[in-house]
Amino acid sequence: MSRPLIAGNWKMHLNVQESCTLAEQVEAQARTYSDTVETAIFPSFIAISSVKPLVDSAVTGAQNVYFADEGAFTGEVAAAQVNDMADYAIVGHSERRYVFGETDETIARKTAACIRNHITPIVCVGETLHEREENETVQVLNDQISTGLTMVTSEDVAGSVIAYEPVWAIGTGENAQPEDVSSAIRTIRRAIGEMFGQKTADQVRLLYGGSVSAETAGSYLDLEEVDGLLVGGASLKEHEFNAIIERAANGGEQSGES
Ligand code: PGA
Repeated sequence: MSRPLIAGNWKMHLNVQESCTLAEQVEAQARTYSDTVETAIFPSFIAISSVKPLVDSAVTGAQNVYFADEGAFTGEVAAAQVNDMADYAIVGHSERRYVFGETDETIARKTAACIRNHITPIVCVGETLHEREENETVQVLNDQISTGLTMVTSEDVAGSVIAYEPVWAIGTGENAQPEDVSSAIRTIRRAIGEMFGQKTADQVRLLYGGSVSAETAGSYLDLEEVDGLLVGGASLKEHEFNAIIERAANGGEQSGES
């Protein structure tokens, strides 16, 4: 694995002050391991501009963006408005899909908005429990990839990140088995290869996300298919997230601390 990406999605948690405190704690760890790990944190929109100047080794990202660059869209935030404070944006997170009704078409437009505004998208894909039980995982991943990436080029995709986040594993404490993650990630890489060519499929970075903890992080980071982790709940706990960064830095070797 090249330098793994450890991304912390803070979701709708922490006020500005609390976000700044956690950012400084993560920054110290990100700096220690910056040669071997890329760390990205995703505060809520209200905190990004306050957090950004506090980090240097860690980078900041947005949890969502709207697909238009400006206009009468009350309550939305354009990629064009945050591109000076966000290196990354999460697009198509399952909470956006299932709580806010975002479709693959919306996600395609948001992915294109990120690229157009020089933000690296982290496009999330993954099956629901029902789809998994119906053996539809491969089909769902193929559909989400083929529709979600229709508005971008192979060069764009090569520089992007895709996160495999099975919906049933998010925020539930029920993390996916490493062998299931390997197989899903191979499916995603194959779908990208068919659409954009093998070179692009080899270059795109693929993450796992879903109830990752300091204890389970290593089992995914050890998989050769996995280029990093998208961490939700555990990214809000300084010691837990910093232990995940350290584990990523230690590659295949288990860290003594947690
Ligand atoms: P979780 O969230 O780690 O709390 O399951 C992951 C995510 O939503 O990206």
